[in-house]
Amino acid sequence: MVAGNWKMHMTPSEAVSLAEMLKEKIGSPACEVVFCVPAIDLIPVGQVLADSAIALGAQNMHFEDKGAFTGEISAPMLCDVGTKYVILGHSERRQYFGETDETVNLKVRKALSCGLLPIVCCGETLAQREEGITEEWVRMQLKKDLQGLTFAEAEKLTVAYEPIWAIGTGKTATTAQAQEVCAAIRSLLAEMFDRETAQAIRILYGGSVNAGNCKALFAMPDIDGGLVGGASLKEEFVKLTEE
Ligand code: PGA
Repeated sequence: MVAGNWKMHMTPSEAVSLAEMLKEKIGSPACEVVFCVPAIDLIPVGQVLADSAIALGAQNMHFEDKGAFTGEISAPMLCDVGTKYVILGHSERRQYFGETDETVNLKVRKALSCGLLPIVCCGETLAQREEGITEEWVRMQLKKDLQGLTFAEAEKLTVAYEPIWAIGTGKTATTAQAQEVCAAIRSLLAEMFDRETAQAIRILYGGSVNAGNCKALFAMPDIDGGLVGGASLKEEFVKLTEE
């Protein structure tokens, strides 16, 4: 799977042009391709993607179905406009918007109960990597984020390992670093669920993935694709869907 995280880029009219250009160039991809777009772009981009193999994704949602939560968007709202995937627990939401493992867990459960497929993000800071606690940290995050899921629900998950120091910095984790953590995630998933379920869950790497480094990253045994920020807004993204 290659998922583009457009973050807070593209007005609806810009989003339509970008989606049309990418759709045309991507054609029939050999892997699952997802555009995770800003909420206001979901409807127009969904219309562009309607006759394509590219799936529509959101970048966040609230954990309640409805209510007095000014400014929020619910899972049923996302589903109603044809959204298939939703990114949950991105480090930017954790850092700037007070997202916690507890709210991520509520959101993951709500998304699954509504038929939305979560892309759950985890990853360490540079300080944590230097301290040597990367795997411990990521395991702790995912244990909380994925708490209480049934095996059948867990199978539908995608997990994205995104070292915070590699996001938007041009510093990619080496293939060995990325593989090491993704393998640790796979074994945690096997502990939490079972081996079969752990194999079924897609594990993506994210953090400065681009056309130059994607092939080597995607070739690693426990890396099943990428969550891509910067490079998802350019024609370069097409190349990523071909690797
Ligand atoms: P980047 O972002 O590819 O620009 O590093 C990845 C992400 O934050 O999902």
